[in-house]
Formats: sequence, structure tokens, C-alpha cells
Amino acid sequence: MTSAFEKKITLHMVSSLDGFIARKDNSVSWMESPGSIYEAGVSISEEEIASFLKTIDCYVLGSRTYEHSLELGWPYGDAPVVVITGRKLSSTKKNIEFYSGDLKSLVDLKLAPRYRNIWLVGGAMLCQRFLELGLVDEIRLTIAPVLLGDGLRLFGPLTEKRWNLKNVVPHKNGFVELVYSAATA
Ligand SMILES: NC(=O)c1ccc[n+]([C@@H]2O[C@H](COP(=O)([O-])OP(=O)(O)OC[C@H]3O[C@@H](n4cnc5c(N)ncnc54)[C@H](OP(=O)(O)O)[C@@H]3O)[C@@H](O)[C@H]2O)c1
Repeated sequence: MTSAFEKKITLHMVSSLDGFIARKDNSVSWMESPGSIYEAGVSISEEEIASFLKTIDCYVLGSRTYEHSLELGWPYGDAPVVVITGRKLSSTKKNIEFYSGDLKSLVDLKLAPRYRNIWLVGGAMLCQRFLELGLVDEIRLTIAPVLLGDGLRLFGPLTEKRWNLKNVVPHKNGFVELVYSAATA
């Protein structure tokens, strides 16, 4: 258990160069590594990925991302997952809970008292809502080396807001990770 003051909400998404997170038909196979080698990039081992993922205390998903994740192969293991939906969904998995209602109350009353490192992992609709409400502390965007031309846009109309660049990590496979924190002023 950690105090409410310590929580951090990270919006994490993989985007195409032209800002799409899924093709029009919802497919995301373009996220698979093309294997191209960018010599100056880093490569991260499976063990490093696994130990990094252990630092994430909770995932928050929109219901469409949840349903798509079930189809593609559940990537969140036994980590706590909160699915946002207005429907009566259920799961036999004990680590999955469903939430319907005000998102600020979700963060303040349900997430912050229990979790520190909270990852909001999509989709576009839910991420935009979190951004509009000022509930995102960090944006971690992984840019894939592909132009899709069409599909589901990560960002829609938003109120202008400045973000501070915190880290840039180029990967050997041509993907680039950009990390921004919310500017306070
Ligand atoms: N490239 C990436 O990194 C990435 C990451 C995640 C997802 N994706 C892709 O994105 C697509 C899904 O994104 P999406 O934007 O269509 O949908 P989404 O954000 O995953 O889910 C939208 C649903 O979430 C629920 N919801 C959202 N805001 C709510 C609120 N304020 N209160 C209550 N419920 C709320 C509603 O569920 P109900 O309709 O059930 O009420 C809504 O229909 C999929 O194709 C997925 O594969 C890509």
C-alpha cells in the first residue's frame, strides 16, 4: 500500500509515425518488429522487459482494448487490471475488475490509495478522456517506423498543454520511445 500522493499515471501507447494506434480494421500487426537494425539503438532482453513489467502496479484499459487483448492473447499476466466500461462485463480472472463511472473518482478513490505505478494502456477513447481531465502524469509513446495512412488516431481534439521531454530511447529495431512528463505551469 502506498499513499495517494505518490501515484503516477503513465499513458503508454505504440503509435505509427503518422499518429495511428490501430488500422481501420482494428489490426495492430504493424506493431511487430520489422527487424531492421539501427546500429546506435539499444536492444532490450526478455529478462529486462520482464523485470521492468514487474514494476507496473496496475493497468487501466478501455473495454474495446480489453476485448481486443483477449482476442490477441492476454499480455498483462496476473497484474491487476481495471477495465472501464458502461456495460455489465465480467471475468473469471480475479485480477480483473470492471469500473463504470466518473474517471477522477476512479483515480482518487480506487487507484491512488492502492497503486503507485499505474499504466493507462488504451485505447484512444479512454486515453483522450484521461488527458482532457488532466489525469495523466506521464506520456510514454513508442513510435513504430511505419506510416499507416489511415486508422484510429491516438489524439483527438484536446486543450493545448505543454509536456517536458524526459527521455528518448532509440531501439535497434527502429522503434523510438519518447517519455514526457506533464508540465506544471
Ligand atoms: N497501439 C497501441 O498501443 C494500442 C493500445 C491500446 C489499444 N489499441 C487499439 O485501440 C483500439 C481500441 O481503442 P478505442 O479507442 O476504440 O477504445 P477503448 O478506449 O479501448 O475503449 C472504449 C470503451 O471504453 C469505455 N469507456 C471509455 N471512456 C469511458 C468513460 N469515461 N466511462 C465509461 N466507459 C468508458 C466504453 O466502454 P463500453 O462501450 O463498454 O461502455 C468505450 O466504448 C483497439 O483496436 C486496440 O487494439 C492500440
